[in-house]
Amino acid sequence: MARSRHYLMCRPDHFAVTYAINPWMDPATGADAATAVRQWEQLKDVYEELGHTVSLIDPIDGLPDMVFAANGALVVGGRVYGAKFASAERAAEGPAYLRWFTGNGYGPVMEPSWTNEGEGDFLTLDEVILAGTGFRTSITAHKEAQEFLGRPVVTLQLVDPRYYHLDTALFPIDGRTVAYYPGAFSPGSREVLGRMFPDAVLASADDAAVLGLNAVSDGHNVVLNVEAGELALELKRRGLNVIPVDLSELRKAGGGPKCCTLEIRA
Ligand code: ARG
Repeated sequence: MARSRHYLMCRPDHFAVTYAINPWMDPATGADAATAVRQWEQLKDVYEELGHTVSLIDPIDGLPDMVFAANGALVVGGRVYGAKFASAERAAEGPAYLRWFTGNGYGPVMEPSWTNEGEGDFLTLDEVILAGTGFRTSITAHKEAQEFLGRPVVTLQLVDPRYYHLDTALFPIDGRTVAYYPGAFSPGSREVLGRMFPDAVLASADDAAVLGLNAVSDGHNVVLNVEAGELALELKRRGLNVIPVDLSELRKAGGGPKCCTLEIRA
């Protein structure tokens, strides 16, 4: 069922592509912060028009990827599991996001011992948390999150560097089922997904390549990159309300709607 959500976002005032930590990023091409801000504001407007609450964290100069709030933490049942970034370029974001949560009265808060990039690699359903590994988040962090949150965490192996975070290849449609691009996963993980989600939406390589799987669903409304045409059609066929957004500038850093969105689950 659709219900009102609480999201944390970060305005891309300092957005740029000055380093390359995934195959989407090319410092020679760069990216334009003003365009990114305009597109990001449309995403924020969409959430507010849907009745969701958006909180903001202040962007920090020198952290161009901080707009990708999903990577800042994993918040489930009011417990805040902090991020510990894989790359030096983003390392300062982990403590910055944790400070926001403690400063705003959230807790318990856990400083992680193991590398993990928050909701980039942890996606929460009703009964389980799906967790990606292979490029960023370590399996030991999956165990640490399970212990801290008291929820079963299922490890999924990512194999394609373009889909370096779980949220670039899969999104929960609601608390029970998901959409995903099979090509991003190892054979064993594809089998796991097939068993867990026999009614999942399977996305094409073309829809994955425009970061169509980096979508945000509240169970009824799906906010999706506008270029993911086939996926949008299939979701509509299933009775979902698809809301297309244009985040082409942020895609130059390898991010889409979900990357910009950290859900705060009370
Ligand atoms: N440039 C960022 C990185 O490579 C993009 C992060 C996208 N975030 C996400 N949740 N997939 O870390």
